[in-house]
Amino acid sequence: MNWGRYVEEFHGERAGITERVLRHSTDRGGDPYDWLLAAVPETGRVLDLACGSAPLWPTLGDRHYVGVDVSAAELTEARRAGAGPLVRATAFALPLAPGSVDAVVCSMGLMVLTPLTGVLAEIGRVLAPGGVLVATVPDRRPLRRADLAVVGGLLAALGSGLGYPGDRDLRRLPALLAQAGLRLDGDESRRYRYRLGSRDDADRLASSLYLPGLPPSRRRRARGYLRALSLAHATVPMPIRRMIAHRPT
Ligand SMILES: C[S@@+](CC[C@H](N)C(=O)[O-])C[C@H]1O[C@@H](n2cnc3c(N)ncnc32)[C@H](O)[C@@H]1O
Repeated sequence: MNWGRYVEEFHGERAGITERVLRHSTDRGGDPYDWLLAAVPETGRVLDLACGSAPLWPTLGDRHYVGVDVSAAELTEARRAGAGPLVRATAFALPLAPGSVDAVVCSMGLMVLTPLTGVLAEIGRVLAPGGVLVATVPDRRPLRRADLAVVGGLLAALGSGLGYPGDRDLRRLPALLAQAGLRLDGDESRRYRYRLGSRDDADRLASSLYLPGLPPSRRRRARGYLRALSLAHATVPMPIRRMIAHRPT
């Protein structure tokens, strides 16, 4: 499976889908973007890596900001939202000078950026000494007991597990960060809740799932399952992992 091509086509057809889903996912009154942003230093130059539709820009845009993404469609959405400057480039060859940013933020990108060593090397290169990396990725935990039936039902409808090409690399993150000259400072996961209040909520979530190699009928089955859950205003758990690292001075 060529994940790179799959993800590019996926976002070409659904630009902004991640932002629409995460804005609808809450914990303690905030969404996953708020949580990521809470760990970002308040000043300095910032690179928004795999920026997508640039949901972080409204908070970070009043400082020296640059967004990078490989998807032209996502960058069009980001531009429409007023974000910039934006550069179409791959995370594996960043068009930035060594030590040119004080923070790299990456929301829900590292799990599809493989091999992770290549991306972390680029992050380590562009970060100035003392600079910070804050990244989020989907996780499998924490879950509550009641979540197991919801998740089990979704996986049964899909007839498949949900996974990402970077899952293995992300399990040995401290060692990979060290190879890139970075040190892990924080690594925790939180359970966000995606509220299924309507059929639209169900359709949005079903549309957002990366399902490489699965026939479209499986996505339709998952959508049907989520629509049924929406009649009961159910909640789908969205565990998110946040990692914080820095480049030592
Ligand atoms: C799940 S979306 C996250 C978007 C945005 N950061 C957010 O949280 O809403 C993953 C993003 O990674 C981008 N992407 C995938 N592979 C990439 C690569 N090699 N280089 C740069 N961006 C990439 C996709 O185009 C997509 O916008």
